[in-house]
Amino acid sequence: MREPVALIVAAGRGERLGSSGPKAFVVCGGRPMLDWSVDAFRAAGVERIVVALPQGYAAPDGCIGVNGGAERSHSVRAALTAAADAAVVLVHDAARPLLTADIVRACLDGLGDGVDAAIAAAPVTDTIKEADGHDVVRTLDRSRLWAIQTPQVFRAPALRDVLAQDDAVLAAATDDASLIEAAGGTVRVVPSSRENFKVTTPEDLRLAELVLAERLRADAATAGPG
Ligand code: CTP
Ligand code: MG
Repeated sequence: MREPVALIVAAGRGERLGSSGPKAFVVCGGRPMLDWSVDAFRAAGVERIVVALPQGYAAPDGCIGVNGGAERSHSVRAALTAAADAAVVLVHDAARPLLTADIVRACLDGLGDGVDAAIAAAPVTDTIKEADGHDVVRTLDRSRLWAIQTPQVFRAPALRDVLAQDDAVLAAATDDASLIEAAGGTVRVVPSSRENFKVTTPEDLRLAELVLAERLRADAATAGPG
């Protein structure tokens, strides 16, 4: 099957959020956080969705559920295994409920000829400095910096190859695309919105609730009365 497959990783504990259950299942905007991403993929025409789950939780209707792993990369690998026939996969964090269909489509479009990975990213607005402890070493050129998000779209064989590396290599990588970069692959950033932020802390959850409420109001206004 050649249609793209979404791999949503939802197996994390959400320790920094401090919720009683796994973060992907925390209610946000009136439903489990995970469900918003599932909707965004479907709205973009991505119907095949694999979800890496925490123990004891079920995938949303119509999605394939797999058991997640101890580390995020293990969860990605587990989800990829359930998409063995896919040529293109979109890896996404369930912790980004503000994903839109437009971002999904832009990432798919970004995977042009000769590109191994196309990754959602927002231009950095803060000045970023590198420091050795508290001693500033240098100030980076902000015009060249991107804050990396998900989805990250990959040619499935390339992702499979890099995820087959040792656990130590995988543990050191903070995103999947960096493994492709390290292997000499071509990675492209796809301009996304800062609104597609990751819910990590309780403050992030409050902000996500506000944005979702605003979107729901805008949708209701467009739909009109009745
Ligand atoms: N994730 C996963 N499997 C893991 C760890 C993380 O599927 N073993 C997923 C999370 O569910 C989340 C995404 O990877 O959707 C990004 O990870 P992060 O924001 O760090 O989520 P958690 O690991 O759940 O949060 P924390 O690190 O605060 O515990
Ligand atoms: Mg984590």
